[in-house]
Amino acid sequence: MSLNEQVENWLRERTAAFFSSDRPFITLTYAQSWDGSITTRSGETLCFSGPEATRLTHQLRSLHDGILVGIGTVLSDDPQLTVRKWEGDNPQPIVLDSQLRTPASAKVCHHPDKRCWILTVNGLSEALSPEASVIRLDGAGSGDAEVPLPRAMGLLRERGIRSLMVEGGAAVITSFLKAELVDALVLTLSPKLVGGYKAVYELLGGGDRNSPGITSVHSCQAGDDVVVWGDLQYGGHSS
Ligand SMILES: NC(=O)c1ccc[n+]([C@@H]2O[C@H](COP(=O)([O-])OP(=O)(O)OC[C@H]3O[C@@H](n4cnc5c(N)ncnc54)[C@H](OP(=O)(O)O)[C@@H]3O)[C@@H](O)[C@H]2O)c1
Repeated sequence: MSLNEQVENWLRERTAAFFSSDRPFITLTYAQSWDGSITTRSGETLCFSGPEATRLTHQLRSLHDGILVGIGTVLSDDPQLTVRKWEGDNPQPIVLDSQLRTPASAKVCHHPDKRCWILTVNGLSEALSPEASVIRLDGAGSGDAEVPLPRAMGLLRERGIRSLMVEGGAAVITSFLKAELVDALVLTLSPKLVGGYKAVYELLGGGDRNSPGITSVHSCQAGDDVVVWGDLQYGGHSS
């Protein structure tokens, strides 16, 4: 079975077995160097994946209802978040943006068939492009607060997002892991040593929490990259 078939079968099995109506099934996926860096430093773009892993990323996008990134990634990479290197529908683009910094010119605001959802805690929606829908999480506190993830995930589920792919960057990856909201992880390991900005940081926060584990581990080479995937387990239990 090809890598693409293996990952698709595995993911379809996971999402079909996920029955929660409180939030979507959440897949975390990103590319990192062998030393765990996702870029040189925050705000800089570093292209990691070879063509095979890039195709897998687009396939994964097509298998989810929604795709989410942080405003840091929008400002640095200006991603389209569409399915271009695989056959399939585009997922709903979603940005975590507490301060409404998404530029009107951002590619996610000029999506071919979807209006981007900007999740925020700030009410100043007029600052944004008419191509985007600002979704304010009521009661989230002051405009300085980050978007509260459990409430945001509940709202996405209410809006019909049953499966969500989280593509980064590091602050978002770390927040989802801390909140124990990740069900599945698909990681591309690129044969580079960067010594740069790490995908995950301060996960334990100096406390006595157990770090998450990964079970049912699979791996497959994709060109020069290695793709690894598995289920997340938190303190001996899955999410
Ligand atoms: N290799 C890869 O696969 C990959 C993938 C994606 C990105 N990247 C790289 O990662 C870098 C960007 O990462 P980053 O860590 O700087 O930014 P990020 O994770 O993309 O975005 C973080 C920002 O999102 C906002 N946010 C709102 N609610 C949040 C919440 N609950 N948790 C976390 N963040 C929340 C915050 O800004 P506000 O307070 O303003 O809302 C926060 O600063 C770029 O250099 C990009 O190239 C690499």
